[in-house]
Amino acid sequence: MIADYYISSPGRADHTDIAPLFPAGTQAVAESLNIISAWPGYKFTSLLNLSGAAKHIGVAEVYYKQEAERFGLNSFKALGGAYAVCRVLMQAIASKTGTFPPVSDILEGKYKNITEQIVVCCATDGNHGRSVAWGAQKLGCRSVIYIHETVSENRGKAIAAFGAEVIRTKGNYDDAVRYAGQQAEQNGWTVVSDTSYEGYTEIPGWIMQGYGVIAAETIEQLNGIRPTHVFLQAGVGGFAAAILSYLADYYGAEAPHVIITEPSEAACILKSARAGHYESVTGELDTIMAGLACGEPSGIALPELLAGSSAFVAITDESVKEAMRGLARGYNGDAPITVGESGVAGFATLLTIMAEQSEAAEKLRQALTLGPDSRVLLIGTEGDTDPDLYRHIISGADHG
Ligand SMILES: Cc1ncc(COP(=O)(O)O)c(C=O)c1O
Repeated sequence: MIADYYISSPGRADHTDIAPLFPAGTQAVAESLNIISAWPGYKFTSLLNLSGAAKHIGVAEVYYKQEAERFGLNSFKALGGAYAVCRVLMQAIASKTGTFPPVSDILEGKYKNITEQIVVCCATDGNHGRSVAWGAQKLGCRSVIYIHETVSENRGKAIAAFGAEVIRTKGNYDDAVRYAGQQAEQNGWTVVSDTSYEGYTEIPGWIMQGYGVIAAETIEQLNGIRPTHVFLQAGVGGFAAAILSYLADYYGAEAPHVIITEPSEAACILKSARAGHYESVTGELDTIMAGLACGEPSGIALPELLAGSSAFVAITDESVKEAMRGLARGYNGDAPITVGESGVAGFATLLTIMAEQSEAAEKLRQALTLGPDSRVLLIGTEGDTDPDLYRHIISGADHG
């Protein structure tokens, strides 16, 4: 169900009092792609053409970028956290030796004496921490990852499997972010956070440049076909802002409509869009969309999202479950897709807007000219990152 929505006027530079910065434009992403494509195991993730889903929904095309394939980590996140760990280490090595080392030298352990002195830490609701831990293990430094109260045991174990020290903290994600910052300061560690706050922008900027690789690959795979709409799920907004910046830079005036989607319990970007400035949401942020359960937007992501998005939609957990089950079955002969609760949110929003008989859905369809001619791009940002929860939802055991 559409729990809340906000449609912004097209172009909208006039709407907000904060200006966009273009953190993941084509040039910045060329740099991250250059480094990431040198990692062992790098390859494009699949771009699926879900013709059965398109027919079911009532649009011309549904393109689905399958990020569950990314580096065997079951989510897109390695492009951000692990990439930022890589940049942190490159910078540390350069400051000691005077030259930026190639990634291959770090991976081979040539700078072990420097890297093993470095500790990276972060707060996570699962996927980001897994990516930082994976990067740290591969590149030879230590990682300490903070998980908050409601992060599942399975997600904690998956992070520890990459050699990280996993520590559970009190409160929600945003509290864990603050705690990680304090611990880093006390211990001389480096915070590798996917969200930016005052005075902390460089590392989250790298993370967004890493995410931009998804957009660069997608444009190549689309081979000249221009999507008309892109639905992007947002937690702190870094992922969505990265894709949006790249598409806006690449397509210019021809850029597709961007629709930002969030859980109804944690719709801080929607709230900010409506206000025209930074707003946060507090409380338990209780949703099955664990990766999107963030109440405080990333400072460098928000300006992009406010300036470049056409609509902001908050959806319920029920819509997400329905979309997961639909993709698991496969629509009209499409191959089944395993997608997690946060990863499916964009698809779930498209499905809901097109199917729901409500004033909100009707207004969104009209404002976005979403219909039979639309070519929609979705990014399935994760697979079954919590397999027990996934099975539970798919089996319908919760009757949701
Ligand atoms: C699967 C998945 N999709 C999307 C996001 C949203 O990313 P961001 O927090 O940068 O908005 C996350 C964040 O953890 C995630 O885990």
